[in-house]
Amino acid sequence: MTDSPIVRPAEKIVGELITLEKNVATFKEAERRFALIDANREHLLPWMAWFANIKTPEDTYDYLKSCEDRWAKGSGFAYGIIENATDMFVGGCVLMDVSFENKTALRGSWLAKSARGKGYAQEAGVLMEAQCDKMGIQRISTFVETGNIASIRNMEKSGYTLEGTLRNDKWCDIRKTFCDMRIYAKVKER
Ligand SMILES: CC(C)(COP(=O)(O)OP(=O)(O)OC[C@H]1O[C@@H](n2cnc3c(N)ncnc32)[C@H](O)[C@@H]1OP(=O)(O)O)[C@@H](O)C(=O)NCCC(=O)NCCS
Repeated sequence: MTDSPIVRPAEKIVGELITLEKNVATFKEAERRFALIDANREHLLPWMAWFANIKTPEDTYDYLKSCEDRWAKGSGFAYGIIENATDMFVGGCVLMDVSFENKTALRGSWLAKSARGKGYAQEAGVLMEAQCDKMGIQRISTFVETGNIASIRNMEKSGYTLEGTLRNDKWCDIRKTFCDMRIYAKVKER
């Protein structure tokens, strides 16, 4: 294994519609985030089951702390999404499983219901991709459940290629069935 240097992305990225701010673990931040997650549970849980583990502001604090740890290690970079027009926290996005040896990363994002359909998810993707360029990442990928039409549209509009479908890849507790996951990726030319 080569000793590849870690290059961290910017902690604050200002876009046209949104700003990405590094996840920071404070109790005030945990309370703000928990309130949004709690109000959007029914819109998030069908596609992001891990939100079920966030039951209290304390759980949110622990999550934010784990984000800080991953940021320090260089294995994951998680942001809050702030709506520029209102300065409100409206969602989150992340580069995770970052490998500087392979120059790869997985990406993910979520938005409060009221912030959807406004182009924020696409801009978050563009902003994260620009950071990936600076970090030398050559492959960005994401796993999307086959029924997650909004996310599939988002990936396709953003120029990601469908590379395949992993059948029965994950137990979906909310639907009590195994689900198929599509894998989308964007890669740099060799
Ligand atoms: C995925 C997510 C971040 C996308 O954000 P968004 O603001 O909805 O994205 P967009 O505005 O680009 O809209 C997505 C597209 O899907 C379409 N869409 C959304 N819900 C749909 C549905 N139920 N059926 C059909 N089309 C749908 C929209 O019309 C739009 O298509 P268009 O651009 O051709 O008009 C957001 O939907 C979300 O937070 N979902 C829950 C969390 C999640 O699934 N995260 C991704 C996990 S892989």
